[in-house]
Amino acid sequence: MTATEVIDLVAMGEDFVRDPYPVYAALRERGPVHKVRIPEGAEAWLVVGYEAGRAALVDPRLSKQWKNASPAFPLSSPSAGPHMLNSDPPDHERLRKLVVREFTARRIEQLAPRVRRITDELLDAMLALPEGRADLVEALSFPLPISVICELLGVPMLDRAAFRAWTATVLTDPDPDARRAATGEVAAYLSELLERKRSAPGQDLMSALIRTTDEDGDRLSADELLGTAWLLLVAGHETTVNLISNGVLALLTHPDQLAALREDMTLMDNAVEEMLRYDGPVETPTFRFTTEPVEIGTTVIPGDGELVLVALADANHDPARFPDPGRFDVRRSAGGHVAFGHGIHYCLGAPLARLEARIAIGALLGGCPDLALDAHPAALTWRHGMLIRGPRQLPIRWTF
Ligand code: HEM
Repeated sequence: MTATEVIDLVAMGEDFVRDPYPVYAALRERGPVHKVRIPEGAEAWLVVGYEAGRAALVDPRLSKQWKNASPAFPLSSPSAGPHMLNSDPPDHERLRKLVVREFTARRIEQLAPRVRRITDELLDAMLALPEGRADLVEALSFPLPISVICELLGVPMLDRAAFRAWTATVLTDPDPDARRAATGEVAAYLSELLERKRSAPGQDLMSALIRTTDEDGDRLSADELLGTAWLLLVAGHETTVNLISNGVLALLTHPDQLAALREDMTLMDNAVEEMLRYDGPVETPTFRFTTEPVEIGTTVIPGDGELVLVALADANHDPARFPDPGRFDVRRSAGGHVAFGHGIHYCLGAPLARLEARIAIGALLGGCPDLALDAHPAALTWRHGMLIRGPRQLPIRWTF
């Protein structure tokens, strides 16, 4: 096999969607970069392995700006406006700095009691369901992060069902027209909301971002505010949903690890890191585009806007970095995983995601001493696309 042979990941069908890890591992055996066909219909360069993945994540020749995409690339930016994740230095630094000023550790800590209260309310409702059965995605994984991010940003009475459909479409619908339409709907909703916050500011993050100004008098423009609000809403819930679902699934399919955690709940922080490593929610982060030729291994990727994807899922399963990577072990030292990325775009919401996962999974285990999976793992269906990884539903049961 040569490095320029195109490997059709789409033709691998549901098997690849359900379990992409063996495919990535087989590619990694052959080399760190491969040309692949992705669900969006485009051809991309897929970087596998831990070292090559980390190097690609910090390579300044790989741009996050859509204007650097090759004209042959069939897609357009799904964003509602400019934000840190679709920008490069020096704009990136500026946009991130203005948000970091307001998205502080203190603001996250203050959210902890609310996260607990929302979790308890959701679990009370779930435990009141007849027959002791539920879909965990519906009952907890989805509603918790969306409630928390709406609370953080100050989004009132959000039509959550519509919002869920929009973001799912933006992130995973293979139809570019559907993605564009959904992006437009989210943008319209957020523009109106920002207008309302301008005239009646609150204590929330969105109001803070509207008024924040740095030492040099710099501030976010109207477009940047819209892009940033969009980024925080989308990045802040789709990902965390699947950390909770994938994490609980890993526990329920590894009873010895579940028992170890139940016996010593101080392992929770470590267990969440292992959940992020073992089956993290971001399989490959959003696109990067070459601005110069980039040599990876013996392959030179041309420098004219070629699309590059970094398989975070594979970096976290590279045996050179994590021995016996297919083993889920809540005591493992999983530090150094790249589930939140690496380098300048390292996830801004990591502390919030960790907080939510620890509280949600801890409360779920506490409330359901005999929690079990209510389906065969092979019967679960998985989200399509290579960005977000997680089951569509997660049937669970407990003694009623
Ligand atoms: C388990 C949950 C999460 C995971 C696995 C995750 C993963 C990631 C990854 C991999 C990146 C880097 C993308 C790249 O390099 O292309 C990223 C960036 C980002 N994430 Fe998260 N994320 C999660 C939750 C959140 C939450 C809760 C928020 C906000 C409330 C958030 C906000 C962001 C932002 C703003 C960026 C862009 C940072 C930049 O460009 O400088 N994320 N995330």
